[in-house]
Amino acid sequence: MSAAQSSAQSQPTLSFDELKSRLEPFEQTHLLRFWDSLDSDQQSRLSEQIAQVDFARLKTLIEGKDKSVDFGELAARATMPQAVASDGSGCDWTLYDAQKRGEEALRAGEIATVLVAGGQGTRLGFDQPKGMFPVGPVSERTLFQFFADRLIAAGEKYGVDVPLYLMTSEATHAETRRYFEENNYLGLKPEQVTIFQQGTMPAVDAETGQVLLAEKGSLALSPDGHGGTLRALSRNGCMEEMRKNGRKHLFYFQVDNPLVGLCDPVFIGHHLLASSEMTTQVIRKRYPTEKVGNVVEIDGQTQIIEYSDLPDSAAEMTNADGSLKLWAGNIAVHLFDLDFLERMLEQDTSLPIHRANKKVAHVDADGQLVTPDSPNATKFEQFIFDLLPNAKNTIVCEANPAEAFAPVKNANGAATDTPELAQQAICDLHRGWLRSCGVTVDDSVKVEINPRFAMDQDELCEKLRQSGDSDGEQSISSDRYFS
Ligand code: UTP
Repeated sequence: MSAAQSSAQSQPTLSFDELKSRLEPFEQTHLLRFWDSLDSDQQSRLSEQIAQVDFARLKTLIEGKDKSVDFGELAARATMPQAVASDGSGCDWTLYDAQKRGEEALRAGEIATVLVAGGQGTRLGFDQPKGMFPVGPVSERTLFQFFADRLIAAGEKYGVDVPLYLMTSEATHAETRRYFEENNYLGLKPEQVTIFQQGTMPAVDAETGQVLLAEKGSLALSPDGHGGTLRALSRNGCMEEMRKNGRKHLFYFQVDNPLVGLCDPVFIGHHLLASSEMTTQVIRKRYPTEKVGNVVEIDGQTQIIEYSDLPDSAAEMTNADGSLKLWAGNIAVHLFDLDFLERMLEQDTSLPIHRANKKVAHVDADGQLVTPDSPNATKFEQFIFDLLPNAKNTIVCEANPAEAFAPVKNANGAATDTPELAQQAICDLHRGWLRSCGVTVDDSVKVEINPRFAMDQDELCEKLRQSGDSDGEQSISSDRYFS
């Protein structure tokens, strides 16, 4: 694992009096209520947690809680950003130009990747980090393995080791690290992988603004959202390391999309040819209230309105021809220029805070554990895509959802975004590739193609032609994994 790998930095233990004087100005001294009943390990843990909280900033957030943005109003005056379509229309260069330019950058080792995997994955209900979910329809490969295979394939194709920066949180760090260590880094080189931990934010009582205690000696903390990525990359030395190693652009992706076009040269090429500082991949939403952020342009700036902030009536707005007005769905694939990210860090551009009302278990003033059955707490999160309005020459690239998006969000049985639906999408895509190479595949047969075998349809046809399979074995009648 690379040198930048680390977890949260440890802080010196502060005394009771030092902690008290730190908390008093912010009316949070209740956090020390059980101090005398804690042993010395518990005291130092609590002290460390308190030392890591920026209480002045938290106070601003708590006080600003009634300031809300009218997203319905914003959506009503939004226009749609100009997008480069997947067939290459909408830009001044050809798909071929974009592919060549992207490949050049890959070959030159200018691309690094960051995978955000710190979420708690509550909707999926899987008891391990989401990246360890076995999503392969035939192979049962995990989500992490999907990404590793794609990076290995890209590495072989372009003759470089594309670095993977993998962001975890307290909830996912130890198990993710163990998983990589015990599984030989999934075929990646250990020095290619940097696992680092994101920051946390305390949950506060929704009524009083007091920080909640999860236990007598521990704050109720949760990950600070994927918007914490930039801070965490910087704090853990990853920005410096990338710069030192000549990386210029950072490909950002999430843990829940096995079809992500990781290191897609065309996407990278569009970004470079447009001199964009931040490029975002979108899909045409499949239905108005699909749970993806809405990419829009407001007052000349590209920005994203999260689905959870958007009233249904705004999501359902249509154009005169009946088509969906807010059509561009964010699938959380971004390409950032390192220069841009460094400028954001230097300017300390604070991303807006999004508040969510959640149920948070905590100990009350008597030290009793309370497990609420309705939301009792406010959690604070930042979103990475809020960097968009700060970026110059932003462009939006449209992808075909059947090729690039199969989100694993909900447990099987839900209507959308389940592992079963993602597996079906993978098989449908790969069945289509095989058919286009002249192979007959029954609809009932599951097929899965590892990118190490073929990264796309053209590579697959070539590989089958070389092996004689597309001529000799014309039909596939049982489940098949090409690896
Ligand atoms: P989601 O918004 O889907 O949240 O995260 P989640 O926590 O994974 O899942 P639920 O809502 O509890 O079911 C989108 C992506 O952002 C990452 C997740 O790991 C996922 O890749 N993420 C989210 C972080 O890395 N850190 C966070 O604090 C939040």
